Amino acid sequence: MNTYRIAAIPGDGIGNEVIPAGIEVLQKLSSSGNYAMEFTHFDWSSKRYLDTGRYIPEGGLDKLRQFDAIFFGAVGAPDVPDHVSLWGLRLPICQGFDQYANVRPSRVLPGVEAPLRNSDIDWVIVRENTEGEYSGSGGRVHQGLPEEIATETSVFTRKGVERVHRFAFELARKRRRRHLTLVTKSNAQRHGMVLWDEVFYEVAKDFRDVKTERILVDAVTTRMVLKPGSLDTVVASNLHADILSDLAAALSGSLGIAPTANLNPERKFPSMFEPIHGSAFDITGKGVANPIATFWTGAMMLEHLGEAKAAARLMTAIEAVTAKKIFTPDLGGTARTRDVTQAVIAAL
Ligand code: NAI
Ligand code: MG
Repeated sequence: MNTYRIAAIPGDGIGNEVIPAGIEVLQKLSSSGNYAMEFTHFDWSSKRYLDTGRYIPEGGLDKLRQFDAIFFGAVGAPDVPDHVSLWGLRLPICQGFDQYANVRPSRVLPGVEAPLRNSDIDWVIVRENTEGEYSGSGGRVHQGLPEEIATETSVFTRKGVERVHRFAFELARKRRRRHLTLVTKSNAQRHGMVLWDEVFYEVAKDFRDVKTERILVDAVTTRMVLKPGSLDTVVASNLHADILSDLAAALSGSLGIAPTANLNPERKFPSMFEPIHGSAFDITGKGVANPIATFWTGAMMLEHLGEAKAAARLMTAIEAVTAKKIFTPDLGGTARTRDVTQAVIAAL
């Protein structure tokens, strides 16, 4: 029997509500499977940062490296600037473990009333996750003076671009429609984004069975709203996909249901699984956070670990619960995190 060692990092805010719910569901699921899951809790959070000056303690990444996967909540607190929290915890893991492919599926789950009349949504957005606009390259000089300058340099490397496009093609090939949309802004950004496009078409030569199209990032927002069925697999840069995937989540019903996997496809490092939402200060501690994003994330983690059957069972249970409209307030219901969790456990 396989035992998977999972590092749980609930982080901040509702991360501390949805990750325990997710662990409960995953434990229940494994109790009737032929594998086991062992969760180790890490208290890496903004509280720890305020107490000790660090999110990740000395040698923390080396410790984390020994796990099979990371189950992550969210990071961000009202009393820490967002760029400090994000660069203190989440980005060092994504970049340090070379999790370059961030996979973000969206679908309208049964029972969910999506905001569009035509909500023919079945998308997977692949986000480049280690460079691009969030490379961290740049700086500030003459701080506070009238001459102050700040630069935020997008970095596109041939190696980084090629591997994420290749990953997106492989994924598109596995999906029924075999259709991959390249999102770009190479009209205005004439260096990095032009390389982004060129390498896409070089990689495309190895995937002649995958239909491709190229669309500018501004135009793709209108396509997502007006012709959702025309998209399937989408590959976009770090910033573009960040924005498009929140839109995708809203169009499929709520940010509270959207999952993601930060993958190191070569498996040299553990991959990290998290709901795409943040720490949601406005609802923290109220017991109403939607745990569905985290459950779906758990299913993606199981799939990555090779437990596809268990992943499918979990998705079936989630869909049985959404079909019954056991919804938290973000989906228009009155259920609490606890109610949805118990309903999914009962459905399992
Ligand atoms: P957010 O995702 O935390 O919240 C946006 C809105 O969606 C809020 O109204 C919130 O209540 C709602 N929402 C989010 N998740 C929900 C859930 N599971 N159930 C029900 N409603 C939900 O984004 P926001 O407000 O922009 O950021 C809050 C903090 O989170 C900031 O510090 C930000 O930097 C951080 N953040 C962290 C992320 C991460 O760790 N991966 C991702 C996004 C934001
Ligand atoms: Mg985001």
